[in-house]
This record gives sequence, C-alpha cells and structure tokens, in this order.
Amino acid sequence: MRIDVVTLFPQMISDALSHSILKRAQDSGIVSIQAINLRDYTTDRHHTTDDTPCGGGGGMIMKPEPIARAVESLRRDAEPCRVILTDPQGVLFTQQKARELAQEAHLIFLCGHYEGVDERVRELLVTDEISIGDYVLTGGELPALVMIDAITRLLPGVLGNAAGAERDTFSEGLLEYPQYTRPRVFMGREVPPILFSGHHALIERWRRWHQLTRTRDRRPDLWKAYTLTESDRKLLESGEPTLPEP
Ligand code: ADE
Repeated sequence: MRIDVVTLFPQMISDALSHSILKRAQDSGIVSIQAINLRDYTTDRHHTTDDTPCGGGGGMIMKPEPIARAVESLRRDAEPCRVILTDPQGVLFTQQKARELAQEAHLIFLCGHYEGVDERVRELLVTDEISIGDYVLTGGELPALVMIDAITRLLPGVLGNAAGAERDTFSEGLLEYPQYTRPRVFMGREVPPILFSGHHALIERWRRWHQLTRTRDRRPDLWKAYTLTESDRKLLESGEPTLPEP
C-alpha cells in the first residue's frame, strides 16, 4: 500500500511514523508512507498556501492551486486512489472505515489547516472527507496519523498472529474482556482465580460475559447495534461464570 500525506508540517508526519510497528511496517515494504510539503507546490516567492476568505470574515483559507498540483503529481495514471481530506465536518472515522481504506492500493491524505480549505478542493479533488471525532484540532496532521495507524495495523503481515486484529475491540462490535498478567496479587487485588483454572471453555465464557456486560454498561450505542446470539442471551441470564465448587 502507498500512503501520501500532503501537509504544511511534513516533519510531524515523518517523526510520528518512525517508531515501533509503523516503522517496521514501512521497513518491511508492506506500506510506503511519504510526507509531502505543500509549500513545494507553490509557485510564488513567498510559498503562499493560504489567503483571506472571499466575502470577508476572519481567518485564512487554504488556496486550491498548490493542493491541486500536489495531488496531480502524486496520482498515478490508471491507478484508483482515494483522496482524503481531514475535516471535523467529515464522516466519522470508525474501525469499519479503517477496514474499508485498508483495501485500497493508494491513499492521499490532505491535512486541512487554518479556517478551512477552498470549497473547490472538496468538489474537484477530494473523494472522502473524514473526521476523527466531534472536537476541533489545530490541524489535520494528528487526524491523518490516527487514521494511518488504524489502517496500517490491519494490513496483512503488520501484526503478528498472536496480536492479530481479528480479536480487536470493535472487530465484532463488542469491547474487550479484562486482561491480567503477573503478579497474582497487586495492591491487594487478586487476578480472578478462574483464569488459573485451566478450564479453557469456562475461561472463554467468563471473557465473553465480561465483553457483553462491559459493552452493555459502557457503550449503549454499540450495544444497540449488536445482535445477541442465543448463547449470549443464556450467558447473560446465568450471570458471571464462576469456578465450580471443589
Ligand atoms: N481537523 C481539525 N479537527 C479535526 C477532526 N476532529 N477530525 C479531522 N480533522 C480535523
């Protein structure tokens, strides 16, 4: 997969992508990520990328021409490509959207800045306007990085099998079950003994019960969208699974 990020702050992108799993994914050739400086596509002496809004009002608007030149230079003929504008007005980014974008061969992210982007950029160049949440950030770099992280970890070979993405929160529409490691007692709190029982089926039931009740109690929106199976329903009715009496 190829990902290009058009930005006024390329260092923000390259720095954030030079660690851990995202770095390894690039080093192994699974994904090629490039930060492109929008100023390189300006033609004036001052490398101007923004201008005042037509009709007045405060703030600055990103000019369309440098963005168009950048996108055209990154597009490869005959290769389909999604051009994504980071924007709090866009559709909400979700795990489902990450899965959809992970199928593409080439993504171009346009990091919005200032008060906005000339409307013709949206009309003529952009295929997707995406928001990462209902809050406003100072620029589109962090949203682009959030999306790149969520997309890249889904690409085959990026995560090992053990940490596979199939078991993720949201992959099934449920939150995750609680996890523990040693020590067995920490600050007076004991790891639930059922996890040391060796009863794998019972542990699976206990985990499932926690996934269901956590989702129900914390995320009513996910719970509403989730379709309970018959065995889920029975599990919820019977309460938290416990160890059989010795
Ligand atoms: N730019 C500023 N805030 C944003 C958000 N929440 N999502 C995407 N892009 C943004």
